[in-house]
Amino acid sequence: MVSRVIPVEPFDLVIFGGTGDLARRKILPSLFRRFCDGQMPDQARIIGAARSDLTVSQYRDLIGQALQDALDKCDCSDENLAAFLACLNYIPIDAKGTNGWDDLAAIMRPDVVQAYYFSVGPSLFGDIAKRLKKHKIAGKDARIVVEKPFGHDLPSARDLNATLAKHFEEHCIYRIDHYLGKETVQNLMALRFGNMLFEPLWNAQYVDHVQITVAEDIGVDGRGAYYDNSGAMRDMVQNHLMQLLCLTAMEPPSKFDPDAVRDEKLKVIRALEAPHPSDIVRGQYLASEDKTSYLEDCENPDSKTESFIALRLHIANWRWNGTPFYLRTGKRLKSRMSEIVIQFKEPPHSIFESAPGQGGGQGANELSIRLQPDEGMDLKVTIKEPGMGGMRLIDVPLDMTFAEALGEQATDAPDAYERLIMDVIRGNQTLFMRGDEVEAAWAWTDPIIDTWKAADERPYTYETGSTGPEEALILMHQDGRRWRDLKV
Ligand code: BG6
Repeated sequence: MVSRVIPVEPFDLVIFGGTGDLARRKILPSLFRRFCDGQMPDQARIIGAARSDLTVSQYRDLIGQALQDALDKCDCSDENLAAFLACLNYIPIDAKGTNGWDDLAAIMRPDVVQAYYFSVGPSLFGDIAKRLKKHKIAGKDARIVVEKPFGHDLPSARDLNATLAKHFEEHCIYRIDHYLGKETVQNLMALRFGNMLFEPLWNAQYVDHVQITVAEDIGVDGRGAYYDNSGAMRDMVQNHLMQLLCLTAMEPPSKFDPDAVRDEKLKVIRALEAPHPSDIVRGQYLASEDKTSYLEDCENPDSKTESFIALRLHIANWRWNGTPFYLRTGKRLKSRMSEIVIQFKEPPHSIFESAPGQGGGQGANELSIRLQPDEGMDLKVTIKEPGMGGMRLIDVPLDMTFAEALGEQATDAPDAYERLIMDVIRGNQTLFMRGDEVEAAWAWTDPIIDTWKAADERPYTYETGSTGPEEALILMHQDGRRWRDLKV
């Protein structure tokens, strides 16, 4: 296959937490795939940094094992793997002490792009940022990359922002929300702002409601302690679903430029009304025949944390006045499926008489944008049912599954981390969250969580493999609407 990628500039990328789970499972496999695709220039270097006292060769062995999986899933050769591992270096470092920092300073090249990935807990962000400057390691334009969770609430997010700001300017800070790196999420912007067709209809006058679903079939197994302290609201809504909401609802930015896009997203968050408690349904999954319950997974029989949440939200601005946005996300649901659905209104007047049994056309168009699986879009339109027998209407999908329409080009699309890491090297912050955006999202989230704490109520329960608690269905039924199926 002819590579379509343009190599990025030479870089030194340091991964703090270089032996950790995220580095082995996501960051390094992503870099490896970019390497195999020819996007990493010959002079690129990756430096693992962690507490363990490993030699460079031991580190390469460790990462080599981790990459076997990635190797199985692509058409990279063993030679590719050997060449990639040769780009790896390793420095044992003490994030809170003095050990290793001078060694790191000695190998960093001042004349290439420098990026520092903080793949460590947020409690170490400040220590690492400080030492990168104190030991004169990070140059003026060096970039730092931080992962979610970015804070636990507004005060902690503010503290983190302030700590990082002491050492790095905002244009150097890349806060990752991996949902922004997903192919379809960017396609949402292309769809809205690269076509004439949708934008004139993209408002309360024509849109009945919007549904955003991020459903997972996995539980919280293995992450119970973290999750029980977060819940679906902090783990998914405050960041991933909020980002999807923003991109769906925002005004067209004047250009596709980091601050222009982020300014528009911020306006959406600020216009979000506080939901009433009756606009929210929280749930916890029950055990099934072969799977444990949420309470067992988090090892806390008294837990009141939600593994599912559904919300009815209103955006208080001209464009969306009167159009509700329904959001839902949860673990151990029927299937893994994420999508955004724009449900348009019915035509104001039907000229067709449709007697019972004479056609099932609803007349309301529906645009669905699938993030996963089977990335793509489909638009439901009403047409005449072919054949004799008068004017019978039916709804048909105009399906655009990317893999079908674009073939290899779609199935080879880089995963979110590949794209985001390359954007860091290119110095493009469009798909990263700005500090004020994160704070605004927490400012909206915190009072909702405080209300739950004060009420001290247990979430509803739901069956493993279901679509969530009954009450979430009722939330929609009350408004004469219904959730889209979670297709298996
Ligand atoms: C993470 C959450 O940010 O996103 C996880 O912490 C969740 O709980 C994951 O499972 C979902 O990501 P994806 O890309 O698999 O939809």
